[in-house]
Amino acid sequence: MRATALQLCPFSDYLEAGLRQRFEVIRWFELAEATRATLLSQRASSVRAVISGGHLGVDNALVEQLPRLAMIAINGVGLDKVDLQLAARRGVRVVNTPGVLTEDVADLAIGLVIALLRGIASADAFVKSGAWTKGSRPLARRVSGRRFGIVGLGRIGRAIAARLTPFGAVAYTGPRRHPGVVYEYVADLHALARAVDVLILACPANTTTYRLVGSSVLDALGPDGYLVNVARGSVVDETALIGALQGGRIAGAALDVFEDEPHVPPALRASDAVVLTPHVASATVETRRQMADILLTALDSMISTLGGT
Ligand code: 8YV
Repeated sequence: MRATALQLCPFSDYLEAGLRQRFEVIRWFELAEATRATLLSQRASSVRAVISGGHLGVDNALVEQLPRLAMIAINGVGLDKVDLQLAARRGVRVVNTPGVLTEDVADLAIGLVIALLRGIASADAFVKSGAWTKGSRPLARRVSGRRFGIVGLGRIGRAIAARLTPFGAVAYTGPRRHPGVVYEYVADLHALARAVDVLILACPANTTTYRLVGSSVLDALGPDGYLVNVARGSVVDETALIGALQGGRIAGAALDVFEDEPHVPPALRASDAVVLTPHVASATVETRRQMADILLTALDSMISTLGGT
């Protein structure tokens, strides 16, 4: 008999087909609370894997109810919503997909920088709505020659820095200086925000980075400064960001991630000063396939070590 896997969110057709080939898949996210409870009471001990996304992770309460869980497979790089200590205590292996999504996330960050400063999204809406025949657009802001600050110079931060270098000066902050890196290190986030025009968030979500960017950092960025977030919504105090945008205390923001996805505050959705994308930084056919292959390979090795289900 095949093992059971709980699928916590939708995935690409490719990954979903791969999961179905290997497991009895329960599409957990489509079930009502009562059905979930019934299923767990009947089948909890057959569940050997939980498959989720980086944005969603898995609740401890669910992990605790799965006595024979062997693997938590995260289709993403961020493990901020998985309790790694609980998993270790329970002997549950946790797999994620670092590396393969770096280039896509960095590409999107650059796209957001240019879209934000050049007003690409609103220019597109302007042409499509027919408004061009009635008027012209306000001038945008130049990207080349700007100063860029990156928060978090990990794999993704470095890929963003490399892409930004032809545009202008790049500096970074983070818990430590990276030896051998050509970019200027600014230990203090406020000092970095004061020194740059565009602040780009590429750090992991953890207790240190929780709401790291609040009113005081936004004020340091200033009325001509822009914020770009491809990290996690929790890194920004969204209420403070809305206040700074509404008060003209920063010039604009481009956000791929939010505090309570997929719920985006109406004040952000209504703002002309923001560009919003629905957490799609790694969402390309090529990358999602590579991510899926990493997970399917790990799941295969897990299945091969199981003695029966
Ligand atoms: C995905 C992510 O949006 O890698 C991450 O941590 O958040 C993203 O790549 C998500 O995990 C898709 O399942």
